[in-house]
Formats: sequence, C-alpha cells, structure tokens
Amino acid sequence: MALQPSSGHEGSGMKTQEGQSNPVLASDVHNIDQGLIEKMLYDALVWSSLHGLVVGDRSSQRSGKMPGVGMVHAPFSLLPTSFPESYWRQACEIAPIFNELVDRVSLDGKFLQDSLSRTGKVDAFTSRLLDIHSKMLQMGKNEDIRLGLHRSDYMLDQQTNLLLQIELNTISSSFPGLSCLVSELHRSLLGHYGESLGLDSKRIPQNTAVDQYAEVFAKAWAEYNNPRSLVMVIVQTEERNMYDQHWLFHVLREKHNVKSIRKTLAEVDAQGELKPDGRLFVDGQEISVVYFRAGYTPNDYPSESEWRARLLMEQSLAIKCPSISYHLAGTKKIQQELAKAGVLERYLDSQEDIAEVRKCFAGLWSLDDPVIIQKAIENPKLFVMKPQREGGGNNIYNEDVKVNLLRIQKEGTEEDAAYILMQRIFPRASPTFLVRDGICHKDHAVSELGVYGTYLRNKEKVIVNQQSGYLMRTKVSSSNEGGVAAGFAVLDSMYLT
Ligand SMILES: Nc1ncnc2c1ncn2[C@@H]1O[C@H](COP(=O)(O)OP(=O)(O)OP(=O)(O)O)[C@@H](O)[C@H]1O
Ligand SMILES: [Mg+2]
Repeated sequence: MALQPSSGHEGSGMKTQEGQSNPVLASDVHNIDQGLIEKMLYDALVWSSLHGLVVGDRSSQRSGKMPGVGMVHAPFSLLPTSFPESYWRQACEIAPIFNELVDRVSLDGKFLQDSLSRTGKVDAFTSRLLDIHSKMLQMGKNEDIRLGLHRSDYMLDQQTNLLLQIELNTISSSFPGLSCLVSELHRSLLGHYGESLGLDSKRIPQNTAVDQYAEVFAKAWAEYNNPRSLVMVIVQTEERNMYDQHWLFHVLREKHNVKSIRKTLAEVDAQGELKPDGRLFVDGQEISVVYFRAGYTPNDYPSESEWRARLLMEQSLAIKCPSISYHLAGTKKIQQELAKAGVLERYLDSQEDIAEVRKCFAGLWSLDDPVIIQKAIENPKLFVMKPQREGGGNNIYNEDVKVNLLRIQKEGTEEDAAYILMQRIFPRASPTFLVRDGICHKDHAVSELGVYGTYLRNKEKVIVNQQSGYLMRTKVSSSNEGGVAAGFAVLDSMYLT
C-alpha cells in the first residue's frame, strides 16, 4: 500500500496496492485511521524539510557535490519502532566495553597482522591496509591520543530472544546527525497525534549522538592543543549523505567554536605536507584531527594518489579517527577471531564484561571449518557470507551462499580467506509505514539498532568512554541488506516498551 500526504485541504491522496483499509502500527495493536496517516505524513514531510532531515536527491545531478542543491527528505519510518527497554539498556551498557575492546585490540599489532594475513593474500584492499599498518609497526609509531567513534549494530533474534551483534563499525559510522533528527521528528508527531494513537512521546529516548560526537571532537582538538588547528573530514568526491556530516560540523562550530574543512583523499595528496616534526598541514593549515567519512571501500582509492594520502595522514601526529589499527580492529575477520574461545580474555580484564560481550556474539566462523561449511551448503538460508567490506551491498545470502561455497571448494583456491560465515539473525517483522520520496508504503519490516560509542584517550588518561546515542534502521523484511544510503532501509527511532 502506498499513501500520499494530505495537506488537510485535499481529498484522500491514498493509493492502495494491497487493498487493505486499516493500517496497523507495530504489533497489530493500534488501528490507525488512514486520514490520520495522511496528515502525519504531510506534517512529517514539512518537518523534515524545515529541520534539515535531508539527503541529496539522486535525480539531481549536482546534489552530491553542492550543498543546498537538489535535496529530498531522508527516507524515514512514519512512526517509531517498538523496542524492549531491557535490550536497549543492555546495548547501552555494553558500548563502553566495546570501545575499550577496540582500543586494546588495536594495540596488539601482531594479532591484527596474523589474523588478517591470509585474507590479505586474496583481498587487495585488505592487503593495502595491512601494508600501512605494518609500516607503522616498523616505524614504532605510537598514537598517544586515540579517538574512537564507533557504532555497534544489533538485531533482536526472534527465536532465541537474544540481542545479537551484526557488526561493530570503527570507520565512518554514519548517521549521528540524521538519527537525532528522526527521534525529534517522531517526538514531534507523537506530541501532536500521540493521544489519538495511544502513544506517549516520552517513550522515545533522547538521542544525543550529534552532540556527543561534536563534543568528543572538541575534546580531541583540545588535547592536540593548538587553537589554530582544524578538524579535517575526509569525504568522497560525491556524497549524497553530506547533510548528516554537515550537522556534526555545524554543531562543532556553533557549540565549541572548532573549525573544520572537508577534503577528498586526492586533495590531501595534492595539498598535504608532513613537517619534519610530524605535524600535518593541508592547504597551509595545521590539522589536529582527521575524521574519515571516506576511505572504507576500495572505490575510494581509484589511484595511488589516494593511498599516498592515507599513508601521509597515518604517519602524521594528527589524531586519526580511525587510526589504521582501529580500522583493522573493526574488520569482519577480526570480529570473527574475537568470537573464538579464549580470545576476548586476552583483551578484557573483567569476567563480567567478557560475559556481556560474548552474550551478544552470533555464530561466526572462518571458511576453514569443514563441518560448518557442510552445514551452510545444506542450509544456506541460516548463514550470511561476508567479505571484508563496508558500506552495504557486499554480503552473500540464501542460495548464493551455497553456490559460492561449492565454487570455492571446487576451485580449491585461497579465496575462502576473503570471507567469514555468520549465523543469520532473524528479527521479528511487523507492519511499518516506510516513507521515501514523499510516498508512504506499508510493509512488513525488521529493525536494526545501532548504538554509538565515543572514546578518547591521551596516553594513560581515558578522557571519554561512553555510549553516545543511537540509530534505528528499518527495512522491508524481504530485503537482505540494511543500508539507508544504499537504498535498502529507512531511518527510524525507538519506542520503548
Ligand atoms: N548475520 C546477519 N543476519 C541477518 N542480517 C544481517 C546479518 N549480517 C548483516 N545483515 C544485514 O546486512 C546489512 C549489512 O551488513 P554489515 O553491517 O555486516 O555490512 P556493511 O557493509 O559493513 O554495512 P554498513 O554499511 O551498515 O556498515 C546489515 O545492516 C543487516 O541488515
Ligand atoms: Mg559496516
């Protein structure tokens, strides 16, 4: 079913594809009047436009390069998704432990190199990252100031009732800006329509991601201790999700008076300079913090120029978010290695913390385990095959798992090292109103909760280590992938139950 907004002056602009007349929210509890949906949709579209809940519009050619040109509301769900408060608390509590885990793992250069070396042999991208990492090890490069902006993604598995981690992102954790706006949008809608819906806006938790991200940037900048220095955001040459990024740096400037610049990797190569003492200058300005919103996919490195830029920044004194070792600690291969028996114990001290982390690990395997390969060939729907990639759209599902496993087995190459196998998580699907391009579709959807974490340490002093807001993403249950920017999911917020 698809709905179009009603301004309150027109007749019903509704399109019915399923012929269903009574839309319901979440767990079939609330019957919502279609006229009400149309009104809320109209209000939500106005709200998004007025508050900057926007992305670049694909149909406008310059929208990925020029701010203010060709904007469209970000895809969102019309109403927040129900989520049990106990699992929300669990995800919040575990965020600082994951921050610490990344930091500890990043210090174990040998573990990162050993775990990823086979992958590096068959995956050129991983190999280049490992090269930079091993250069830093040879140089004995120490990162005194360590900045982590992470997002741990979870799904609530219906069968086991466990909150299971999809993955931990240590590079380019996106949507700290727009996710806060969606929470605000939903609070506003429930403020106006909550009574008719039987929903209370106070049950949507405050989302502080953008403020907390900006604050930790300001603190990192202060630790670097040069008031003239800038924060540099590494961006793709075209970026339709630029407003999410601009939100962050708008808050950084308005609240903390810290300036930032945006550069592509190629621009850093052309304009960057390393002073003999290790300070990084770009376009004549000293850079204290480098924040990567690009550089996580091979597409971001079309030539040697981009790799030179990455190496230059890594060698510098600037605070990298992430450093190469934080980046590697967030790879899917490392996620799988950490799930092996006895590995967490090497990095975390508290038995309680270890148990909490382990509880949210789904089944994770490397492809050198013949028993699990056989199981996956027999029952491919229960597994996801993942290469070492970020940004969505790269995972392998269903029959393709079987086809690829059989092919790799037959060819007998080392290609198996490029992938990990993961237990497929099945969250409960519920009817949801998904809004894209001003049209509201009702469909069965599943949700994925991302919890942001911020971490800042200067030598032995931990300055920040906390949970920092959330991202809810919702997608039609028939879709495998979950990316919003990639076009699979919509932004959402959480209604605690
Ligand atoms: N084990 C799983 N079970 C069910 N769905 C999964 C699983 N792993 C991944 N997915 C789905 O695929 C999407 C992408 O997976 P993943 O996060 O591992 O890849 P990515 O390319 O790093 O994505 P992102 O850009 O969100 O970081 C997830 O958002 C989720 O919807
Ligand atoms: Mg990812």
